[in-house]
Amino acid sequence: MAGFGTVGQGFAEVLALRKDFIKERYGEDARLVCVMDSSTYAADPDGLDPLELVARKKSTGKVGDVRYQDSVEVMKSVEFDLLVEVSPTDVKTGGAGLKSITFALESKKDVITVNKGPLALKFGELVSLARKNRCKFRFEGSVGGAMPIINLCHENLVGEKIASIRGIFNGTCNYILSKMDNGQTFEQALKEAQQMGYAETDPTNDIEGYDSACKAVILANSVFGRDVTFSDVEITGISSITSEAIALAAANNMVIRLIGEVSPTKLEVSPRLIPKGHPLSIAGTLNAAQIVSDLAGPISISGRGAGRKETASAILSDLIAIMDDRKRT
Ligand SMILES: NC(=O)c1ccc[n+]([C@@H]2O[C@H](COP(=O)([O-])OP(=O)(O)OC[C@H]3O[C@@H](n4cnc5c(N)ncnc54)[C@H](OP(=O)(O)O)[C@@H]3O)[C@@H](O)[C@H]2O)c1
Repeated sequence: MAGFGTVGQGFAEVLALRKDFIKERYGEDARLVCVMDSSTYAADPDGLDPLELVARKKSTGKVGDVRYQDSVEVMKSVEFDLLVEVSPTDVKTGGAGLKSITFALESKKDVITVNKGPLALKFGELVSLARKNRCKFRFEGSVGGAMPIINLCHENLVGEKIASIRGIFNGTCNYILSKMDNGQTFEQALKEAQQMGYAETDPTNDIEGYDSACKAVILANSVFGRDVTFSDVEITGISSITSEAIALAAANNMVIRLIGEVSPTKLEVSPRLIPKGHPLSIAGTLNAAQIVSDLAGPISISGRGAGRKETASAILSDLIAIMDDRKRT
């Protein structure tokens, strides 16, 4: 596993929680043979204890006692068959995540990631590489956290012609807009979001719509088979939404929400007027989406878009899908 912060530790805890389930379903454990944070790693071919790693990270700030410079060199030194990539998102270069995922797929290893950077920048290349090397490449948690959307479209709705997906893909913006519905100014709501730990000290990525745009790109490529990257998204954030605009919307029984819209021809993130009571008018930090397809019509989903165990739950679902596949073949 590359990355041992909120999500990485959450996934380690979930592996411990589901140890018996996995053993019963597959007759073997899902062994963690190597875990890296930004500067150290721990490795054991017989498997590391996930909860010991979490405790060590908490007490020492490091997951392992071996220092490293290059994650690829670490991966070359261990035997593994699946990479869980949960290092920080870098939407400018793809960061260390892009390097690690590329190396793993080139080495014919399966990959699960929730890291939006590599997906928003190099989706086509990574998927082609995975296909060429017959690797599984899954990324459910990269959009909507625990809210199942990618696998829902790919698996349950596989026979549908999906016309469009509209959704709330950033809980921080939704929190701010919901607080503005209750009378706060943008600045007050942002400050509160920061105090609650929902918004970063530098909130640009969220409030300017960049995070939602990455998710729109992932959906456009994976659900609609498009070939787009971050720079193709028309983006308007929420930083210039005024209290007057919110009041005017409310007077017309509407709310303003930051909506990502993806279809075969559309790729946009912008604030939209949504009628109160509509599935996309939800309040708080939740994510939501409405998928419109030809046979099923509109399907609405919502769920927690972020969080330690919530995001780990999406990784677990990808892991189970891969283990099921391996069992079949
Ligand atoms: N948090 C969520 O709810 C959520 C939801 C969906 C998607 N995501 C995505 O999941 C990823 C991880 O998020 P997070 O919240 O867990 O972030 P985080 O708490 O900042 O953790 C990032 C981890 O990656 C490690 N790291 C940094 N550079 C690395 C490198 N070059 N190689 C390997 N590991 C490296 C960090 O090491 P140190 O511990 O040494 O700093 C840390 O352990 C991000 O891409 C994020 O966008 C997060």
